[in-house]
Amino acid sequence: MKQYSISPDGEKFQLPDPKDYAKEFERLKNSVREQRELGREIVVVMGVGFVGAVMAAVVADTEDESGNPTKFVIGMQRPSTRSYWKIHLLNRGVPPVDAEDPEVEPMIHRCVNEKKSLVATFTYDALKLADVVVVDVQCDYLKESLGNVRDGRTDMGALEKSLEIIAEHISPETLVLIETTVAPGTTEQVAYPIMRKVFRKRGIEKDPLLAHSYERVMPGKHYVASIRDFWRVCSGINDEATKRVKKFLEEVINTKEYPMTVLNRPIESETAKIVENSFRATILAFLDEWSLFAERNGVDLIKVLEAIRVRPTHSNIIFPGPGIGGYCLPKDGGLGVWAYRHIHGFEDDIFKITPLAIDINDTRALHVAQLTRDALRNMSRPLAAAEILLLGASYREDVGDTRYSGSELIVRRLTEMGAELRVHDPYVQHWWEIEKQDEYPSSTHSLKRFFRSQDKLSELRVTKDFKQALNGTDAVIFAVRHKHYMDLDPDNVVGMAGGPLAIIDCFGILDDDKIKRYFELGCEVKGLGRGHVKRIKDQVREEREKMLLALSAKHGTDCVTKKA
Ligand SMILES: NC(=O)c1ccc[n+]([C@@H]2O[C@H](COP(=O)([O-])OP(=O)(O)OC[C@H]3O[C@@H](n4cnc5c(N)ncnc54)[C@H](O)[C@@H]3O)[C@@H](O)[C@H]2O)c1
Repeated sequence: MKQYSISPDGEKFQLPDPKDYAKEFERLKNSVREQRELGREIVVVMGVGFVGAVMAAVVADTEDESGNPTKFVIGMQRPSTRSYWKIHLLNRGVPPVDAEDPEVEPMIHRCVNEKKSLVATFTYDALKLADVVVVDVQCDYLKESLGNVRDGRTDMGALEKSLEIIAEHISPETLVLIETTVAPGTTEQVAYPIMRKVFRKRGIEKDPLLAHSYERVMPGKHYVASIRDFWRVCSGINDEATKRVKKFLEEVINTKEYPMTVLNRPIESETAKIVENSFRATILAFLDEWSLFAERNGVDLIKVLEAIRVRPTHSNIIFPGPGIGGYCLPKDGGLGVWAYRHIHGFEDDIFKITPLAIDINDTRALHVAQLTRDALRNMSRPLAAAEILLLGASYREDVGDTRYSGSELIVRRLTEMGAELRVHDPYVQHWWEIEKQDEYPSSTHSLKRFFRSQDKLSELRVTKDFKQALNGTDAVIFAVRHKHYMDLDPDNVVGMAGGPLAIIDCFGILDDDKIKRYFELGCEVKGLGRGHVKRIKDQVREEREKMLLALSAKHGTDCVTKKA
């Protein structure tokens, strides 16, 4: 039976037949022959997902002093029904990923159609032609419970398979650079033995030239710069690999302005990545308890943090919003905790803060459902019959990346509690984790399984029509700091909703004047870490009472005057 891969725009691509492979390899060999004559190094980037697609373009865009491309890049992607379409888009010069960075599209177009330094393929035979292989396939951490990262495991299946395939195809002189975020120890204790075994079977005595360097890529407006113009850390498995990886990265990354750190062993580079992200996850998680403290004691945590940030040593203290999200922070610490036992064989449990931080971040969004429930209750509206609008599905401001966003948990919990949800997000075309919840992030690991009554969510679609989304809602949840939500006028919001509604601020989006205005308009306001709203509410009530008293006194005087 013919199988198809369908792009997000609905274009259908038939998966290759066995006979297509030989033809495709011929095409690549011819291109590579021409490219070698031009003196270009051949680089295969394995996995053209979020990171690989842009990394491939950054490498393909590399030029010498005279402006001539120095690399020819083959983006290699397995032809699965889920991902095969990416190859076709790339070969047209179209990015296979949604990017808010205006540099991505022209760069991919330029490399594919003008410089002719970038192509994409489905055949692993491409690896036979490589001088360098960059591995950008995923290495997931699969959690089996909600809020308990220890109950999970590293899923290295795709990575292990990729390494085996690479070793079966490459020349012994090929540098293999693992950029995937891995459990510390993977390059030396997983990748090296896998590849060496295959090399020996092929009669190759030389050790594989393996190195590790991690991506610090950030989705958003500076996506390309976060790969090319950013500090790198790298390490090789031996002197030759270290020399090769250093040379390669110095050629493709802007290491002159963003100096690179070369560490002694790959486990150090791998650990640096995990510690870096665990540090970030920890400083975010730590504020969860202070957020609750603030809510229960009349404190506005947003103002408290602004006051603290003035001190230069504390300038990176950040408000966590409704959970953390993204692909990296929710999983990377888990890779480290898992590696300690399953790669390095220790039995004791040395990790306290790293897993706890992830667990706190993974469940923080559930509190938003409680605030929504309480705000509606204060308006005498039962949550179970309420229409609720969520503003923002992505995990951070002004991007369309929805992976592990706090918003998903909010939608799931409120749905479980009986509410009807609507979602608005100017950056998100399809919220796959909801729309295709039985497939995303994988068929066995949707967050759906931790909640009841989720089936109907497959029908939920993200709307871009703000006015329509607001019409008739009982509550609005400000979940993400998208620029579209920062300056909304309360009078307009209430007008579009058709009357007072519950307002939930998850991210310090509303200033005090707006909060006051919402109360004046008859709304109820609650917010994560925003305990001071009660004071504003009391102030509005007092002002209203004073006004009523003044009015009745005035009317009383009027009566007396008229009688006289
Ligand atoms: N913001 C980010 O997304 C980010 C930031 C820093 C680091 N990273 C790390 O970069 C790595 C890649 O992440 P991503 O977001 O690009 O993942 P992704 O899932 O978008 O992409 C991985 C790609 O690899 C492909 N693939 C899997 N097995 C393959 C095989 N055998 N041959 C060829 N292709 C194969 C998949 O089909 C997919 O297209 C991860 O380790 C991640 O932790 C990601």
